Amino acid sequence: MYLCPAKEQIIVRFDIITVLPELLESPLNHSIMKRAQQKGLLEVHLHNLRDYAINKHKQVDDYAFGGGAGMVMRVEPIADCIRKLQSERTYDAIIYTTPDGETLQQQTCNRLSLMENVIILCGHYKGVDQRIREKFVTMEISIGDYVLSGGELAAAVIVDAVGRLIPGVLNDETSALTDSFQDDLLAPPVYTRPAEWEGMPVPDILLSGHEKNIDEWRHEQSIARTQARRPDLWEKYQGG
Ligand code: 6GU
Repeated sequence: MYLCPAKEQIIVRFDIITVLPELLESPLNHSIMKRAQQKGLLEVHLHNLRDYAINKHKQVDDYAFGGGAGMVMRVEPIADCIRKLQSERTYDAIIYTTPDGETLQQQTCNRLSLMENVIILCGHYKGVDQRIREKFVTMEISIGDYVLSGGELAAAVIVDAVGRLIPGVLNDETSALTDSFQDDLLAPPVYTRPAEWEGMPVPDILLSGHEKNIDEWRHEQSIARTQARRPDLWEKYQGG
């Protein structure tokens, strides 16, 4: 008899370096992210960059060489913090959140959910000194083509999008597989009770109990939505 070896449980650890840890506490300590941490599947450690400041004024930024408006995050506090973390464990990725990074995609989230230890450095002010990016950073991520006042909300987005993919985090493990984007199609419309509301009925097929027809209908709806709303995704779906 072949005995399957015990499946190893994936645990993802995020170390987030930020000047505003408060901004990350609430979004990561509720609902699914809270449960993921309580179950021990996700670890989030916040590091206040000011604890690594170079002087008694807790300074972490400075004027930009060459002039111009806006401050730049200095190298020393960031380097000290990253090196301290690296002395404790090996990191699979060091992410820098910045509007000039690569736009976050579901595929990247899938990849990150298989990693063990990930640092996220939150950009602020005019960003970090370029030398930090060259020396330490392995991935530069933006969450879309608009500008946020800092990288903290982007870091929260990354942890949420990745955390929910860790096996055991969602109750119904198949539900992450049916998300929009997971197969380059948008999700179909959903309904719950009442079956009719203010003259608006739920599509008959969803009340039919016929699983195969329902699956087909949902797939058709996904395709129609993707074609109408995201022609770029539709092209990718057909190509793949
Ligand atoms: Cl990662 N940071 C900032 N400041 N703005 C953004 C962003 C990140 N992604 C989109 N906009």
